[in-house]
Amino acid sequence: MADVKNRRWGRLVALGVTLAVLVPLGYLWATSLVPGEYNPAEMGYADYGGGPPMGHEHHAMSGMSVADLTGPKTGTPNVDVTLVARKQKFQLASGETIDGYTVNGTSPGPLIRARVGDLVQVTFVNESVKDGATLHWHGIDVPNAEDGVAGVTQDAVPVGGKHVYRFKATQTGTYWYHSHQVSSDEVKGGLFGPIVIAPAAAGEVIATIHTYDGKRTLNGRTGTARVELPAGTTARVRVINTDNAILRVGLIGTPYRVVAVDGRDVHGPTPVTAAYPLPAGGRVDLEAVVPAGGMRLVAGTSALSLGIGPVDAPQGELQAETVDLLTYGTTAPIGFDPAKADRNFEYRIGRRPGFLDGVPGLWWTINGHKFPDVPMFMVAEGDVVRMKISNTSGQAHPMHLHGHHAVVLSRNGVAATGSPWWVDTLEVGNKETYEIAFVADNPGLWMDHCHNLPHASEGLMTHLMYEGTTTPYRVGGNSHNEPE
Ligand code: C2O
Ligand code: CU
Repeated sequence: MADVKNRRWGRLVALGVTLAVLVPLGYLWATSLVPGEYNPAEMGYADYGGGPPMGHEHHAMSGMSVADLTGPKTGTPNVDVTLVARKQKFQLASGETIDGYTVNGTSPGPLIRARVGDLVQVTFVNESVKDGATLHWHGIDVPNAEDGVAGVTQDAVPVGGKHVYRFKATQTGTYWYHSHQVSSDEVKGGLFGPIVIAPAAAGEVIATIHTYDGKRTLNGRTGTARVELPAGTTARVRVINTDNAILRVGLIGTPYRVVAVDGRDVHGPTPVTAAYPLPAGGRVDLEAVVPAGGMRLVAGTSALSLGIGPVDAPQGELQAETVDLLTYGTTAPIGFDPAKADRNFEYRIGRRPGFLDGVPGLWWTINGHKFPDVPMFMVAEGDVVRMKISNTSGQAHPMHLHGHHAVVLSRNGVAATGSPWWVDTLEVGNKETYEIAFVADNPGLWMDHCHNLPHASEGLMTHLMYEGTTTPYRVGGNSHNEPE
C-alpha cells in the first residue's frame, strides 16, 4: 500500500517537474514567434533616448510616409543607368564558375560614377532573382524612399519587375550598392557593385573585395592582378569590403595615407606602413605616389593582391601593426556639439539562449531584448543624437546605420583625438564600447543593423525612426519582403 502511494507520488513529482520545464519553455517559444507579416514602423518598443516622447497629436502633425520621402521627381538625370539582376552561373574574371547573382551579367556589377551635384537615376530590373531584389546605396545618405530596403522603403522587385531610384549625389566618396532583399543570400551570391561619387582620375584604382563560394576575390578575380600606372602618379585606391567579416588591407612597397573612410575625407592623414582593418560593408581610400618599383595592394595576404605601378611590385605581407582611426590624423570641426545631445541611446549587443521565431538557439539581443521586441530608436528632425554601442556577445559586429554618417567620440572610454572619424559602418569588437554621435537630418525609417548579414537575419537588426514616420510596406507573409 505504502509502495503504491510512493510510486504515485513519484509520478506526480515527475509530471510536475516536466510541466515546470515545459510550460515556461512553451511560453518562451510562443512569445518568440514573429508575426507572419508585420509593419516595421510598429516593431518593438519606442526608445526615446531620454528625450521628449512624441505624442500622437505630434505624429498627426508631422506624419509622413516613407513612400513620399523620395529624391527629385523631375529633372533630367546626369547619370542614367539600367541595372539588370540575374540568377545565373557566371565566370569570375579568373575563370572559376560561380552559381550566384549578377548585375548586367557580371559580379561585381558595373561601376557607377557620379559627381557631386549630379542627379543619379538607376532603373533596376529583376530578370530572374526568384526571391525578388532591391538596390540599397550603402553609405550614400539618400532620401528614405530611395534607400532600397524591402519591406521598409519599398516592395522587393519581383521577377519581371522594375524600380526606378533617383537621388542627388551630395558627397564625394567610395560607396557600393547591393540588394537589400534576402541580403544574406543575394549579396553573398554577387548582387552588388561599386559606386563612386567623384570625377574619374588618372590614378584611381577600384578594389572590390568579395568571397564567392569560399573563394576570396579582388574585383571579381582570385589571386593576383596588375594595374599599370606610371611611377610618380598619385594613386587613390578605393577599397570596398563587401564580405561579412573584417579584413586587413593596405599598400606595401611604399608608405600610404588613409585619405577617406566610408566616403568621408580624413583630416590631416599622415603616411603609414601599418595595415588598415576594413569592416564588412566599410570602405577605405588609400593614397600613395607610385614608386618606380611599383606597390601592392594586399587584401588579407599577398595571395590576394593587386600590383600597382610601372612594373609588377614584389610580393610581401602586411605589417602586424594596425592603423587606428581613434588617433590618426588631426582634429577638425564636426559641425555640431555632441555635448548638447537631445537623445542618448544605448545599443547593447548581447547573446542568450532562447527561441527566435520558434527556433531554439543562441540569439543576439539588443538591450536585453530579442528580435522583434527590440528598441525602436525614436528621434525628431534636427536632434543631436548620441549612441553608445557596446558588445558582450562573444563576437565582433560591423554595425551599419542607414541614411546617416556618425562621428566616433570614444572607444572603451578613451576619447577620439585624431581626425573626425565619420562612419556608416563601424566594427564593434567583443567587449568593446563605442560612443558615436550624429545629427538626425534625414527623415524616415532607417535600418540600424549588423553588416555580417547572417547576423542581421538572426535578429541583430533594428531601426532609427523619425517621429511620425509611417510606411505602407510590410515585412514577411504575403508581402514577400525579407530585407535580411
Ligand atoms: Cu549595406 Cu542595411 O546595408
Ligand atoms: Cu554581427
